[in-house]
Amino acid sequence: MGRVFTASIIGCGSRGATIYGNKMFHKPERFKLVSLCDIDTVVLNRYSKEWNVAKENCFTDENEFFKEKRSDILVIATQDRDHVRMCNRALELGYEILMEKPISPLKSELEELLETHKKYPRNVVVCHVLRYSPAFVKIKELLDSKVIGDLKLIEWAEQVEWWHQAHSFVRGNWRREDETSPMIMQKCCHDFDLMQYYVGSKCEQVFSQGELTFFNEKNKPEGSADRCFECKFRDTCTYSAEKIYIDLWHKMGCPKDEWPFNVLYKEYPLTEEKIREAYKNNQYGRCAFKCDNDVVDYQQCLLKFENGVSISHTMTAFTEQMGRKITFHGTLGEIKFDDANKTLSVCVFGKDKVVYDVTELIRQFASDGFGHGGGDTVLINTLCDMIENGAKAETTLEASVESHLMALAAEESRKTGKIVKIHE
Ligand SMILES: NC(=O)c1ccc[n+]([C@@H]2O[C@H](COP(=O)([O-])OP(=O)(O)OC[C@H]3O[C@@H](n4cnc5c(N)ncnc54)[C@H](O)[C@@H]3O)[C@@H](O)[C@H]2O)c1
Repeated sequence: MGRVFTASIIGCGSRGATIYGNKMFHKPERFKLVSLCDIDTVVLNRYSKEWNVAKENCFTDENEFFKEKRSDILVIATQDRDHVRMCNRALELGYEILMEKPISPLKSELEELLETHKKYPRNVVVCHVLRYSPAFVKIKELLDSKVIGDLKLIEWAEQVEWWHQAHSFVRGNWRREDETSPMIMQKCCHDFDLMQYYVGSKCEQVFSQGELTFFNEKNKPEGSADRCFECKFRDTCTYSAEKIYIDLWHKMGCPKDEWPFNVLYKEYPLTEEKIREAYKNNQYGRCAFKCDNDVVDYQQCLLKFENGVSISHTMTAFTEQMGRKITFHGTLGEIKFDDANKTLSVCVFGKDKVVYDVTELIRQFASDGFGHGGGDTVLINTLCDMIENGAKAETTLEASVESHLMALAAEESRKTGKIVKIHE
């Protein structure tokens, strides 16, 4: 058993509080939450009470919060365009840092952060949580063992899921590129990070196409209202907020505090009445065909790596389930992974298929949480090991930045129609 680390969180939302804060609070033998910062007083009051953080150590203003170093660790879980500004200040103060992805959608900020990090070389762990997820780690082991020979091609699908697209990328936080990030950066910097990890080489070039094809005025049902609550299609439209939130909430067993409902309603506990009241009045009750969204609903990429491996990648809203579906083609066999159905199998050509129990893998390595296939839990444990024992992170800040450069190149290709080299 090691020492107890003090921790602060800036951005006590869905990731910062519900995931990292709660995990830390329930591990008192490793963490003590001592300071919080959020512009929203509702969440600040809630978590200051729940986690016993003294009022004088809770801040609504980041400038006040950053006046001094308040703990060993800082979790940065604000929105995409806040991360680098906050991380620069945290590095100068000497924090060990856990920072949400994407680092930033701006190349200039990615470069700026690498420079600051050179000057203050502390741990900066970017939350590429899938790197820590047991099934994804198992795939890396299998590839490195060469059980399928030399890797040649990967077919990679990022299934966003129909209602998740409507929630996050049509009505929600990541609907507009100018406010947060292009969708390929927001959703797929994880995929691009994993690709370089699996392929074991840098990406050389990318070609991409994609559009916003469906969630726009052209496709609104004739005679639909601006808000689902007052719409005659409220019980029949697939993307009706009423159907998405209320049906899903019941399907999930009426949770008291769970994503995506805790994005709609910030106070605890959630009830059907409160969810209904929330979407009646907030952005999540808008007609999915009349929002101010501009991010794509599908995007495809063809990526070529320096060692010759090719990847075809598809991100799409139009899927029944959420999660990655990946087939690795090697000279001696295939590895097939289906995140949604928790299946991982190896087919060596001419031999019987070997199937791994993904649920059991997660249980083994991340028994206290299934978020991101156990990755959220393992990430937190790894951070302690890194600070305490100098353990190596699964990935470096430089590698995380590389995945973001791939996403930026994909976006440039989508917009210009040209093949884009990652490093010109
Ligand atoms: N690792 C992953 O797989 C994963 C999954 C989902 C989201 N994310 C990322 O996590 C980040 C947070 O997402 P979220 O879903 O928790 O969003 P959220 O909106 O629920 O939480 C963000 C919080 O930051 C607060 N905030 C905003 N500006 C602030 C400021 N200047 N100072 C202090 N607090 C401020 C907001 O009030 C809110 O409570 C985003 O960058 C998102 O892309 C990562």
